[in-house]
Amino acid sequence: MSFARIVNRRAIYFLGSVAAGATGAAGLASSDFNGSFFNGNNNNPKNNGSSWWKGLAGTSAAAAPALRVAEVEKGKTPEDFQQVYNAIAKKIIDDDEYDNYIGYGPVLVRLSWHSAGTFDKNDNSGGSYGGTYRFPKETNDPSNKGLQNAKAFLEPIYEQFPWISHGDLYTLGGVTALQEMQGPKVPWRPGRVDLPESATPENGRLPDAENGADYVRNFFKRFGFTDQEVVALIGAHALGKTHMANSGYEGPWGAATNTFSNEFFVNLLNEQWKKEKTEAGNSQYNSPSGFMMMPTDFALKEDNTYLKYVKKYAENQDVFFEDFKNAYKKLLENGIEFPEGTPTIVFKTLDEQEQ
Ligand code: HEM
Repeated sequence: MSFARIVNRRAIYFLGSVAAGATGAAGLASSDFNGSFFNGNNNNPKNNGSSWWKGLAGTSAAAAPALRVAEVEKGKTPEDFQQVYNAIAKKIIDDDEYDNYIGYGPVLVRLSWHSAGTFDKNDNSGGSYGGTYRFPKETNDPSNKGLQNAKAFLEPIYEQFPWISHGDLYTLGGVTALQEMQGPKVPWRPGRVDLPESATPENGRLPDAENGADYVRNFFKRFGFTDQEVVALIGAHALGKTHMANSGYEGPWGAATNTFSNEFFVNLLNEQWKKEKTEAGNSQYNSPSGFMMMPTDFALKEDNTYLKYVKKYAENQDVFFEDFKNAYKKLLENGIEFPEGTPTIVFKTLDEQEQ
């Protein structure tokens, strides 16, 4: 049973039993989805229509850059997106042998971040909206090495749900993986529209880990993130591992590689770190427990402002989860305007659905 609640004239759809229990609101009927936000997004990569730009006509060159306007896939309801969530979640379980039984969760979170991590707020280019990661220029960006595994993982999902836009699929993949790895519920909004290949950003927009705090702070200015949001986001490195063949780093940041937690911060503060060179010539901090940190990770301990948040998140996982949820949602939605009536969906985990 699903529920709808109207808050400030925006629709929030709680598909999770926990959230649903908290709403006590009206039942969700298909008639709720006849709103104007359904305007024919057919996921056509050749969609050259102008509707995905909120026009700049009549504005001066100094005006804020145009946002891209979300258009929910025609006729699709929150339940349809829950079906996509379920298919991804089940496949994560079925294909659990990937990466020595870490599974696909971490690499799916990384794909969602890299699909959004090309964003530039100065001209609203890049970002998750256009799903341009699917084009060779972006797939083959050296910074995206390893993500072809996540792309291949999602291909059969796309075949099963060919109506979904790639931007929605990549971001939903990350949200699904995060929730299934016991991370926070991330309210997610649909409506990204496939943009043509010409919208693919140039390579070089993703961060280089061989850098310190000044670089990290400056890099994330392009998104408009605060110091606190930057620290929270990088806490995602509790998940998965680095791979020599992909990045020239090797090893995990912690022990629980497929459970979302604040372990990254705890280890950053408490492990005995030794700076060493990897066989690829990169600098990497290693600990006797077999954990690692890249220079951009370690920078969070070296900068006093960042350190304040590292300590806060190491002490309190709930605070970390809340801040991560908000920053990650912002990351996935950068540069997009969601028209009034666009549903905000809180997905139910597989576990919740079994109860
Ligand atoms: C300064 C910012 C960042 C840098 C320099 C960075 C760099 C890297 C590198 C080099 C890897 C290893 C890739 C490999 O060898 O397979 C990695 C993995 C990963 N990153 Fe980041 N990252 C940053 C921020 C983020 C953010 C914001 C997120 C998510 C919100 C994220 C999520 C992940 C995840 C989940 C993995 C593990 C992937 C796997 O196990 O296959 N990273 N990152």
